[in-house]
Amino acid sequence: MEHNKRLDGANDFWDQAVVYQVYPRTFNEDGEREQTGQGSLRGILERLDYLQSLGIDALWISPFYPSPRLDGGYDVSDMENVDDIYGGLDDFEALVDGLHERNMKLMVDLVPNHTSNTHPWFQASREDRDGKSEWYTWADGITDEFGQTAPPNNWGSVFSLPQLKRRESGELIVAEGELTPPISGWTWDETREKYYLHSFTDFQPDLNWHNSEVRDAIKSVMRTWLDRGVDGFRVDAVPYIGKNISYDDDGTFHGPDEEYNTAYVDGIDNPYDQLVRHNSSGYPGALNPYLHEMISVLEESTYGNRDTRIIFEAYMPEHELKYIDEVAPGRAASFNFTPIQADWHMPTPVRKQILDKYHARVASAGNISNSVMGNHDKSRVASRYSDQIAKSLALFSLMQPGMMFIYNGEELGRHDFDRIPPEMIRDPNGLRDPERTPMPWNSLEKNTGFSGADAKDLYLPMNPDDTAADIQSTDNESFLSYYRRLTAWKHRMTEPYVALDIETADGKNNGVIAYGRGETYTVITNFTDEPQTLEAISPVRKMGKIVLSSIMQIDSSITQAIDTITLQPNESIVVEHEN
Ligand code: NOJ
Repeated sequence: MEHNKRLDGANDFWDQAVVYQVYPRTFNEDGEREQTGQGSLRGILERLDYLQSLGIDALWISPFYPSPRLDGGYDVSDMENVDDIYGGLDDFEALVDGLHERNMKLMVDLVPNHTSNTHPWFQASREDRDGKSEWYTWADGITDEFGQTAPPNNWGSVFSLPQLKRRESGELIVAEGELTPPISGWTWDETREKYYLHSFTDFQPDLNWHNSEVRDAIKSVMRTWLDRGVDGFRVDAVPYIGKNISYDDDGTFHGPDEEYNTAYVDGIDNPYDQLVRHNSSGYPGALNPYLHEMISVLEESTYGNRDTRIIFEAYMPEHELKYIDEVAPGRAASFNFTPIQADWHMPTPVRKQILDKYHARVASAGNISNSVMGNHDKSRVASRYSDQIAKSLALFSLMQPGMMFIYNGEELGRHDFDRIPPEMIRDPNGLRDPERTPMPWNSLEKNTGFSGADAKDLYLPMNPDDTAADIQSTDNESFLSYYRRLTAWKHRMTEPYVALDIETADGKNNGVIAYGRGETYTVITNFTDEPQTLEAISPVRKMGKIVLSSIMQIDSSITQAIDTITLQPNESIVVEHEN
């Protein structure tokens, strides 16, 4: 299958797009309805002017589909509708119109690997009816060494982190010296009298992508949303659709055990990571053709001339991501999670190598690069490090060419909120409530403008340490004002990435990295807690004037070319050169 290869000028919209992730449950509740303490689609519409003034080009909205919401909506019970708590399809339409009127685009979340166990497809499958018996991944058990029925293989559930706490509290007894077991990826179903596979929680059964009817059903979901005007998809947990499984003619399941991961550290790592993932996820023989199929929907004659795009969520090794980025450069790429995963203080030569290689690889594939600092699954960037580093990382990431993803609230410098009362804990499996608390909009309004409901009825509590958007909006020194400057600069920089070597004045490279945007700009970051001085940017690049800094406000009247630059601890700057 030949996909749209990227041509010069094609997909211009996405080339430098700043995409803002909305976590709908805690984004904003519109004032028109009886207040429930949860966000709504009209609530997003109400904030489009704010997003536009932030320089946002497109939204990605996390799932707003009907769902029991035991995994924040990633347990979908109807992929083609809007959950009542968020509004209805007319509200969705209004949102699409509101975005398109502003020349902004919309990506919705597609969750192809699993559904909720309340989804009618699963109900039919477990009851072996409506031709859906093979829509999920069913298997008979095996007889274990104790003569008991056991799951067919050792595949685990991603959500095994709580096992560490259970062991610590004595709820889970494990012999000394033994590894903390992951939660099995298999659960016995009394109705079907078989095990079903769930790569995530037991209420999220994995669809069987082996079955072409399942693939057709997901492609049909994509068409439904494209027909409603969406411009693309963020595809959830995509590696998991590709598994090394097969069935005998009599329906017997085969899926080889995973091997042990020697790098796993018990007591610290998620027990799920003690197994490598060669068969249960990311199996190229299955994944690659399925990616092709999914992308091909965007190229069907009805949609082919639209500027649509897919971004795949895949935490995978580089060589596998390379494949994804080469499948259809004009249409799809994988998230670049380096900024979210790499430790700020990692050795800079390693960081530089990762960065240069990434940009070279994506450019040679003719694809669009991207950068992700945070999302609803990870501790917020300002909490992971500090406010100062969050600003610096934002400059370092945003100034790179390509798409930039901003997780809602990152632009306000928001922190995780750890003091969630036990009765308000919503995510006992993934432990991700702290990074999902509601957005603070207006300092003078109830619940800082998020919702008019009683505080006790909010989905998650407000973080009292937040500085609301209205206050930040009028303060030139605030995070928000800084982010507005960053997005403006990002849109101004159109030249390609240039790998640059840099030396500090003492002749060593003391944790400073630089890259160029063409010949015009150099972006420099000091990854150390010490000031660092540069006397030259590189043998081939003269000094210029500093136009942007993560620490200082640059006053344009005094900027002029300088001979020496001293970067403050953890500072990032942009230098403009005269060509
Ligand atoms: C990745 C999503 O980002 C996460 O929130 C979710 O729990 C899992 N996929 C399962 O859908």
